[in-house]
Amino acid sequence: MSDKVFIFDTTLRDGEQVPGCQLDTHEKVEVAKNLELLGVDIIEAGFPISSPGDFKSVVEISKAVNYPVICALTRAVEKDIDVAAESLKYAKRGRIHTGIGASEYHIKHKFKSTPDKIIERAIAATKYAKKYVEDVEFYAEDAGRADNVFLARMVEAVIKAGATTVNIPDTTGYCLPDMYGEKIRFLKENVKNIDQAIISCHCHNDLGMATANTIAGVINGARQVEVTINGIGERAGNTSLEEIAMILQTHKDLPYHTDIKSQKIYYNSLMISKMMRMPVQANKAIVGRNAFAHSSGIHQDGVLKNRENYEIMAPQDVGVPDNAIILTARSGKAALKFHLERLGYEVSTERLLEAYNGFLELADRKKDICDDDLFELMEGKQPEKQFEIQHVQVVCGNPIQAVATVELGIGGKSYRESATGNGPVNAALRAIDRIIGEKIELGELLIQSMDGGSRDKGKVHVSVKHDEKMYHGFGLDHDIVMASVNAYVNAINKIKGLNIRRQRRINAALKMSV
Ligand code: KIV
Ligand code: ZN
Repeated sequence: MSDKVFIFDTTLRDGEQVPGCQLDTHEKVEVAKNLELLGVDIIEAGFPISSPGDFKSVVEISKAVNYPVICALTRAVEKDIDVAAESLKYAKRGRIHTGIGASEYHIKHKFKSTPDKIIERAIAATKYAKKYVEDVEFYAEDAGRADNVFLARMVEAVIKAGATTVNIPDTTGYCLPDMYGEKIRFLKENVKNIDQAIISCHCHNDLGMATANTIAGVINGARQVEVTINGIGERAGNTSLEEIAMILQTHKDLPYHTDIKSQKIYYNSLMISKMMRMPVQANKAIVGRNAFAHSSGIHQDGVLKNRENYEIMAPQDVGVPDNAIILTARSGKAALKFHLERLGYEVSTERLLEAYNGFLELADRKKDICDDDLFELMEGKQPEKQFEIQHVQVVCGNPIQAVATVELGIGGKSYRESATGNGPVNAALRAIDRIIGEKIELGELLIQSMDGGSRDKGKVHVSVKHDEKMYHGFGLDHDIVMASVNAYVNAINKIKGLNIRRQRRINAALKMSV
C-alpha cells in the first residue's frame, strides 16, 4: 500500500498574493468548491488579519466547503491568531497556520532578534493557536536557507508545543533538489518527536526547481505538499498542484499517492487562469495549450501508432479533451491521414501521397494548416465558410454598458444581432451567439500582444466547447475586439453542420407559425 501525500492548496493565499490576481469572496468560494471536487485535502483560504476581504473569504469558504480542512495563515502574533480563529468558526475542520522566520537573514535582519528569542516566540505562538484548534501547522519561514541544526531545534520545540504539521518553506526558491531533500531527511533523523507531526514542503520556483524540490522532500519523508493551481504565486510562483499530482500518478515506481481526481485538473487550471487573468504559458507542463500537441512528423507518426510511444500520460487523464496533432511543415503522412479521415475523407495510399505533396507546398507558405486548407487541398477550392464576419460595431466606455452589433453572412444572406456585455468583447461574442442560436461554451479566450507597444497587434486564441468537443480558433488584429471576434468565428466555423442545424431550426419555427 502506498503512502498518502496530503495536498495543501494555497492558490487562495500564496497564489492570490500575485498583483492583479485578487479575487472577490464570491469567486474565492467558487474556487474552493472546485478544489473540494478536485480532491484537495487542505485549502489555505487566506490571511484573515491582512484585510476584511480575506477575513470574510475564510468565513464564507468555511461555510461552503465540507471535506477539506480550512486553513488560515497568521504571523506568530496573538492578535493574528485571535482573528484567524474567529474566521474559522464555521469550518467543519479548521487549521491555524502560524510561524516565524528561521534563517539568519530573518532572525537578525527582519526580526533583529536572537535564535533563542525566536524559538520562544515560535513556541508561544503554537501554544496560543492550540487554545483554539487542535490542528496547528507551524511554518519556519526561509527554512530553505536556515541552518539545519537550528531548524531541527525549532521543529522539535514547536512539535512539543503542539504543532501537528511542520512546514519547511523554501521561501526564496534557493534550494537545489538534493539540498532540500537532505534538509527533510535531516529533520526526520534528528528531531526526536518528528513522528508526532507531518512534514510539509512549501517551495517557490525562483530557479525553476519548486516541483523537483517538493518531490525530493516527499522522497525523504515529507507527507504534505503546499501547491497552487498552475503554479501561480509570488514572483516565479509556487509548486504547481498539477505537476505534483501527475508525477505521483505517473511514476508507479514511487510508493506515494494523492486523492486528486486528475480528470478535473484541466478544468481547474482554466478556471484559475480566467478568474485571475493569468494566462498559462503554452508549454506549461500538464495544462499548457501545447502540453499534448505533437508537431514533428516522427512524433506524430509514433503517437498515431501507439500513444505511449511519445506520451507518458493521456490528455484525458487530466481532463484535456483530446491531443492535438498539429499540422505544420514538419508533419508526416500519418498526421495528414489522421486529419483527412477526421474530416470524412477515405484516402488510398496514392491519394494520400498526392495530397501530401500539395500539403508540403502549402505548409511551406503557411505556418498552421487548418481544416479549410485541407478541404481546399482535397477539393481544389475553399469550402464555403458557414459564417462570414460582415460588420462589427461596439460602443463601450465608462460608465456606459458595452453594446455590440454584429452582422454575419450565412449562406448568402446577412443576419444582424446586438447584445450587451460586461465589456466589448463579451458583448460581441454574445451577439454572435444570438445569431447562431446554439449553445457554444467558451473555454478560453487568451489575448496576447505580439511584441509589445501600443501599436502592436493583438493575437487571440479561443477555445470553445460544443457537443463535448473542443474547437480552437485564432485571430490577429490591431483591434482586440476584432481579433477576438475573428478567433471566435474561426473556432465556430470548425463545428461541422452548425449552420445546417440552425437553418433546420428556423424552418421548423416558420412551419409552426404558418
Ligand atoms: O513562502 C513562505 O515562506 C510562505 C509562508 C508564509 C508559509 O508562504
Ligand atoms: Zn510561500
